[in-house]
Amino acid sequence: MTVTPDTWSPASWRALTALQQPEWPDPTGAAAAVERLKANPPLVFAGEARELQERLAAVLEGRAFLLQAGDCVESFTELSSMRIREKLKILLQMSAVLTYGATLPVVKVGRIAGQFTKPRSRPVEETAAGEIPIFRGHMVHDDAATAEARVPDPRRMVEGYNQSAATLNLLRAFTKGGYADLTQVHLWNQEFVASSPEGRRYERLASEIERALRFMAACGIDLTAERRLHEVDVFTSHEGLLLDYEEGLTRRDSLTGDWYDCSAHLLWIGERTRQPDGAHVEFFSGVHNPLAVKLGPETTADDAIVLCERLNPERIPGRLTFVTRMGVSRVREALPPLLRAVRGETHPVVWACDPMHGNGIVTADGIKTRRFDAIMGEIEGFFASCWDADVWPGGVHVEFTGEDVTECLGGADDLLEEHLSTRYETLCDPRLNARQSLDLAFRLAELMRARG
Ligand code: PEP
Ligand code: CO
Repeated sequence: MTVTPDTWSPASWRALTALQQPEWPDPTGAAAAVERLKANPPLVFAGEARELQERLAAVLEGRAFLLQAGDCVESFTELSSMRIREKLKILLQMSAVLTYGATLPVVKVGRIAGQFTKPRSRPVEETAAGEIPIFRGHMVHDDAATAEARVPDPRRMVEGYNQSAATLNLLRAFTKGGYADLTQVHLWNQEFVASSPEGRRYERLASEIERALRFMAACGIDLTAERRLHEVDVFTSHEGLLLDYEEGLTRRDSLTGDWYDCSAHLLWIGERTRQPDGAHVEFFSGVHNPLAVKLGPETTADDAIVLCERLNPERIPGRLTFVTRMGVSRVREALPPLLRAVRGETHPVVWACDPMHGNGIVTADGIKTRRFDAIMGEIEGFFASCWDADVWPGGVHVEFTGEDVTECLGGADDLLEEHLSTRYETLCDPRLNARQSLDLAFRLAELMRARG
């Protein structure tokens, strides 16, 4: 495989314009942080990234479904085993619902263990004390609403690495050490979810899964010997935004000699930084990880094709995923030309739907939120467009938290505007809470079943 162009190196992006980067006040401090990262052990291995790419190749062929989910942005102040466990629980619940409901394997990818930076539409925000630099994530600066807090500090990249390592360590323990065992399917239902209609629906599904397992055991199948019932693979991902950090974690794989960005299994390029001649596309064109690119409603068919050619010239199945985030009112008009163009050029692309980022609204009280109905509506428009174009609707990409927050409107509980302030905790975009996420999974499974 010759993914890496001859002119590429982990630092070749530095010759190009890199949008959305912090201006480190102290360039020597930034260089020292990058050197520290280069000396640290990798967070993930190249072989694991290749494994994910193979699973994504199965998604491409319609033999699996991608579930990519997690926080909008992780927080340095919220690192705890409880929070990691709650996020994993809801991810496992959603994938149980999708696997059982749609009878397809689910490729599980968290927005986790490195999702510490944010691209922003405006460089500043208004506060009572005046204008301050906008919050760009804890790997850049603190979120407190003061000018001092928002001064970028490159040492935070090293802290981000350490927090990612701790998170990944616990994730690996949970997913391989019995917690994700399918016989524990009931335990993943947390209390505040279990008492809701979708939680009770989940209980019934979990009982069916248990019955199916008992049936298999009664048929003489040795369930204890079947590793796949007792362990799961949860892969990590984040937006590859802060290029100093990504460069610092890029290594040559000792087996193949290929370059991998070992900060996560999958990296995505955001809607704001996907210029074909920009620094982000340059950087990611040279690493062998599976990649995703976000596409908003202004994307042209040409843009999509150029990205395919820049990022996957060898047309490797599973290498490239397009995550579309059109908004419920635009998806049915904006997506079909892209699907047709990419299909016409026979580029292998996994298509996934991010129904969150095109559906942001602000309430009369100035609170950023999203409506559950708009989120579901975009997913429906995505599925309909894919089916019309004879393209497999490969997955969804959502922002959720395992906790009982009140950030998005609607869902089975019908969360109303007046409830938003009860528990609104996100540092950036509003997330689905655990009940809303489970509700979404059930509806998604129905949508997939309806099509057979
Ligand atoms: C995100 O996924 O958090 C994000 C900022 O998305 P987008 O690039 O699609 O706006
Ligand atoms: Co977001």
